Amino acid sequence: MKCVFTALLLCLFSYTCLAAQQKTPLKTKAAEVIVGDIEAGKFKSEDNRCQECHGADGNGQGPTTGAAGKFAKLSGQYPDYLTKQIRNFRSGERKSEFMQIMAKSIDDTDSADIAAYFASQKKMQGDGSGKNEVGKNLFINGDATRNILPCTSCHGVDGRGIDAPQQLIPVIGGQEWRYLEKQLQDWRSGERHNSDGNLMNTFTKQLSDLEVQSLTDYISGL
Ligand code: HEC
Ligand code: HEC
Repeated sequence: MKCVFTALLLCLFSYTCLAAQQKTPLKTKAAEVIVGDIEAGKFKSEDNRCQECHGADGNGQGPTTGAAGKFAKLSGQYPDYLTKQIRNFRSGERKSEFMQIMAKSIDDTDSADIAAYFASQKKMQGDGSGKNEVGKNLFINGDATRNILPCTSCHGVDGRGIDAPQQLIPVIGGQEWRYLEKQLQDWRSGERHNSDGNLMNTFTKQLSDLEVQSLTDYISGL
């Protein structure tokens, strides 16, 4: 009898262990966040030539150099947002001939390290006036008649965005204005369509060229 009882206990124990083992991979997957190493990222971003276009500290190259200043600033951006974009370039979900090649040349660990390095740098500083009234009004109030939500409702009054478990909103305040202009045009035309539920496409669809430029001028000066 004692023997049967022990066997039953053993059986129960090993079943629990087995069940726990089977659950482990799921848990690992859900918590699959690679924490980047800033020092390694500094080296890797130079070694992989990211700094050549995005600047040594990730604050871009200014409006007069490079591809007419269309390189994104990465300094002070959320690391989770940067790694998401690299994954999107790699899968082709976000298009950019050169960045798609660059994204394929680094793995997820390199990507997390490089993102940690740029994220640790001083918040990006743009060169817009920040005083554009048309841009300011749209940014703060949106336009209910055209289904345009206030940009501040997600990106915040200072354009600093949010990095929370359920919400990942990029920093846009102080971003390079030519880059911002290109992104707003790409969201509007549908060329870029990697925001959840195509939200950014909806908000930009009805913006005129003048409104895009005004928003860009205001946001890059924040
Ligand atoms: C030859 C220039 C060049 C090099 C080198 C380069 N990039 Fe880029 N990168 C760009 C351009 C141009 C864009 C904007 C693409 C667009 O218009 O959508 C960009 C966009 C990005 C973005 C998206 C930023 C955002 O705010 O959404 C990330 C992240 C990025 N690059 C990371 C990297 C990393 C990491 C490396 C190195 C492995 C790298 N880049 C190398 C030119 C470059
Ligand atoms: C409901 C929330 C929400 C609102 C409102 C919103 N955005 Fe966004 N925006 C996002 C999210 C999320 C992303 C990142 C999408 C992705 O994963 O690539 C984004 C991305 C962007 C980008 C690209 C940033 C980069 O580094 O490439 C720009 C520019 C931008 N938004 C501008 C605006 C402007 C201007 C408005 C107002 C007209 C606005 N957004 C309203 C959520 C929002």
